[in-house]
Amino acid sequence: MTVHFIGAGPGAADLLTLRGRDLIAASPVCLYAGSLIPEAVLAHCPPGARIVNTAPLDLDAIIAEIRTAHQAGQDVARLHSGDLSVWSAMGEQIRRLKAEGIPFDVTPGVPSFAAAAATLGAELTLPCLAQSLVLTRTPGRASAMPERERLEAFAATGATLAIHLSIHRLDETAAELTPHYGADCPVAVVWRASWPDERVVRGTLATIAGLVGDTMERTALILVGPALGQEGFIESSLYSTDYDRRFRAGRADAVKS
Ligand SMILES: C[S@@+](CC[C@H](N)C(=O)[O-])C[C@H]1O[C@@H](n2cnc3c(N)ncnc32)[C@H](O)[C@@H]1O
Repeated sequence: MTVHFIGAGPGAADLLTLRGRDLIAASPVCLYAGSLIPEAVLAHCPPGARIVNTAPLDLDAIIAEIRTAHQAGQDVARLHSGDLSVWSAMGEQIRRLKAEGIPFDVTPGVPSFAAAAATLGAELTLPCLAQSLVLTRTPGRASAMPERERLEAFAATGATLAIHLSIHRLDETAAELTPHYGADCPVAVVWRASWPDERVVRGTLATIAGLVGDTMERTALILVGPALGQEGFIESSLYSTDYDRRFRAGRADAVKS
C-alpha cells in the first residue's frame, strides 16, 4: 500500500501528467483538495473508488482516512492543485505518514505560475531584464511570513515575482513594490489560469489595482517585473550566429546526441 501524492495541475484536466492519471486510475481511494481539482480529473478514479473531498477535514481526519486505507491494503491517490512543492500542505501529511510508517511517493504537477505564464505567452526570465523568478506570497490569516522574506527584500533584486495567495492585497502589494520597480513596471494578474473561465488583466504597478478592482478573488496570481513587458531585452546568445556551435548539427566536431 502506498499513498501517492499527485500534483493535479492548475485546473485544465489535460494538464495532469500521465503518471498522475495512471496512479489515480489504480488507486481505490482518492482524497482530493477541494474545488480546485476539476471533476474531469476525478473521473480517472476506478469504478467504486472511495472519493473524499478533504476541504472540510482537519489534518487528523485526513490521516484517519489514510490510516483506514493502509489497514485495508488500499493505495491512496492524494490530489493537490498545481505542484506539490509549493503551498500544498503536503509537508505536514508526510511528517505524519513517516511517524506511522506508511509508505508514500510524490508525482509532480504543473504549477500555477507556469500555467499563468503560458496563458500570457510569456517567458519570465529574459536576458538583461530578469534571470530569476521568485515564487512568493504575502502574509495570510493562517501563515505569517518569516521576517527575512519580506516582499521588499525580494523586490530589491529586481527579479520577476510570482505572488500567490495575495489577490485580496493587490493594492498594498503594488504600493510596496513601486519604490523598487517604478510605477510603470508591467504587472499581469491571471485568474484561474488554464480553466475555461480564466481571465487576464494587464497593467502597471500604478494602474493594476484599479483595473482589477474587486472582480477577482482567491485563485489568482500576480506577476510583476520588467520581463512582463516582453520588450527591451537582448536576444539570447544561445542561438546567435557567433555563439560556440559545439552543440549544433553541421559543425565537424559537433557533439552527437
Ligand atoms: C494554496 S496555493 C497552491 C499553489 C499550487 N500548489 C501551485 O503549484 O501553484 C493557491 C494559490 O495558487 C495560485 N493558483 C493556484 N491555481 C491557480 C490558477 N489556476 N490560476 C492562477 N493562480 C492559481 C493562487 O495564487 C492561489 O491563491
